[in-house]
Amino acid sequence: MSNISSVLEEKRLFPPAADFVGNARLDADSLAELKAAAQKDPSGFWAGLARRELAWQTPFTQVLDDSRAPNYAWFADGRTNASANCLDRHLGERGDKVAIRFEGEQGDTRNWTYRELHAEVCRLANGLKSLGVTKGDRVVIYMPHTPEAVIAMQACARIGALHSIVFGGFSAGALRDRIDDASARLVITADGGWRGGNIIELKKAVDEALSSGCKSIEKVVVFRRSGHEVAFDDSRDVWWHELVATQATACDPEWVEAEHPLFLLYTSGSTGKPKGIQHSTGGYLLGAHMTMQWVFDIRDDDVFWCTADVGWITGHTYVCYGPLSNGATILIYEGAPTVPDAGRFWKICQDQGVTIFYTAPTAIRALMKLGEQWPAKYDLSKLRLLGSVGEPINPEAWMWYHRVIGREKLPIVDTWWQTETGAVMMSPVPGATATKPGSCTQPLPGIFAEVVDEAGERVQGTEAGGYLVITQPWPSMLRTIWGDNERYIQTYWAQFKNRYYVAGDSTHRDADGYYWIMGRVDDVLNVSGHRLGTMEIESALVSHARVAEAAVVGRPHEVKGESVFAFVTCNGERPQGDEAEALIKELRAHVGKEIGALAKPDEIRFADNLPKTRSGKIMRRLLRSVAKGEQITQDVSTLENPGIVAQLQGKA
Ligand code: WTA
Repeated sequence: MSNISSVLEEKRLFPPAADFVGNARLDADSLAELKAAAQKDPSGFWAGLARRELAWQTPFTQVLDDSRAPNYAWFADGRTNASANCLDRHLGERGDKVAIRFEGEQGDTRNWTYRELHAEVCRLANGLKSLGVTKGDRVVIYMPHTPEAVIAMQACARIGALHSIVFGGFSAGALRDRIDDASARLVITADGGWRGGNIIELKKAVDEALSSGCKSIEKVVVFRRSGHEVAFDDSRDVWWHELVATQATACDPEWVEAEHPLFLLYTSGSTGKPKGIQHSTGGYLLGAHMTMQWVFDIRDDDVFWCTADVGWITGHTYVCYGPLSNGATILIYEGAPTVPDAGRFWKICQDQGVTIFYTAPTAIRALMKLGEQWPAKYDLSKLRLLGSVGEPINPEAWMWYHRVIGREKLPIVDTWWQTETGAVMMSPVPGATATKPGSCTQPLPGIFAEVVDEAGERVQGTEAGGYLVITQPWPSMLRTIWGDNERYIQTYWAQFKNRYYVAGDSTHRDADGYYWIMGRVDDVLNVSGHRLGTMEIESALVSHARVAEAAVVGRPHEVKGESVFAFVTCNGERPQGDEAEALIKELRAHVGKEIGALAKPDEIRFADNLPKTRSGKIMRRLLRSVAKGEQITQDVSTLENPGIVAQLQGKA
């Protein structure tokens, strides 16, 4: 990443503002106490919180079970339900409190109180039961970013069905693969969603996916959102509004074991096949619940806006489970940040009275580029806390966020975590931690991070760099990869003989014990905060008839963090001129179709062959240098055809 060197020069320190500290849930002393308690007895610390903070139908007596490590279990003999924790327990005190404030891209708004949300979730849960969905079944949710996506998640959780959300920007092919891997019984979708003034054809993609596989699917529930005409198969498809029309507004929660899987969420790894990350009910919920308090300092009068789509882990934990389990008010906005103009996000903050705003560096950089005049038009004085997630935030974007949106006084929480970790792992605690632009600072209470070298030895002392690992199990950690426990062990544990959880990020720890995340160590790109496996994009390219071989690397990009750069060899002659132009267009569209628009290569170059080592490995470091336009310093003398370097560079 281009910002590594600038990050390491970063010496600015921003202590928490006195007026924030005065009202904060945690100050430096109380944070130190929590950390000390966790240090003394990590699992006892978590157990105490789980008893105090979550509602259990059957209290647990077991805390951490490490007898099958690295498959850990937490609170295993307890029974709970995530939806009961998020909804039922607030009905008494907060029944009339707004749970969700919604704004559509077209300007439509609607609020849902906790009571209304509970009723709607129960109606859908009963509807799903009437279609035969039971505990343990997988339900794929492929929805626009509207409250109904949250309702669908909650309805699944309520009856003990596992939801597996597929981001609405993924293509029919990606949807099909995820449905098949999970052997899902049902899909919940919508006719269409709104994005950038266009209708996203969700139902059409479901039809396409189901026409080429997905034998496990029995029913498709369709929410009417866009209202445009869609194909409808009466024997298989069910309109959401018809399904729930006759259902009761109460539905007893299915009390599940704490280890019962709450959901699967597919994420990219360094191989072609996405991994179904499996999370538990009790442990996951505890992580989501506590981090809302520690990191976001959530209060009853907050309006919390996490801009992430429910299709990503951030949307799971900080749109749905974390805020609702704390009885908070969330804001959901369906559309793009620039519709109808570049001030939309700031107008929403003003009109909806947003107090906490949580977004991704790529969005901050994009909004920064659009100019300060946009936020200046709106009253952002209700904002009291800002957050960032998804990739390292460069100090320049951090300072802009701080100065222009944060009025030079709001705390910024730069939160490091992963789909696999379930909840934030490292972050400033806003009333307690002095921040440094570009650093996620330190681990939260009960989380134990380390920096290790190639051999797995702890890197001692200050200014340490190496692999980021987590040394103790924590409740919201992933439990396994769906259907492939061996891959779970190989991916996250085997590198250092099961001693630590290996995050796959490299990091640097400074003299103050602050962590600076440097990016991924595996072949995973971070494009606009979304993880994309290079192998996944390569397989998509190779599935095109003209492509013989492909190698994908990332190139630093001002707004997106990284952009996708593909080197391709073709069957037959290397295309040139107009033919090359046409094929590039076709390949971009092909990847869009296979995976989704977010994976489309920004640049494609053709060569007669790809540079390989003697053992036949593609020389990725060389390709990365070429993509960046750097001077080539690697030894290319062993290449069969050194002339291809010029081709790769686009010079021949
Ligand atoms: C990166 C998103 C630096 C990191 C919650 C991680 C970050 C991957 C940060 C997980 C951050 C996330 N600073 N890097 N604050 N947050 N990352 O699974 O490389 O979509 O491993 O989860 O994003 O991405 P995922």
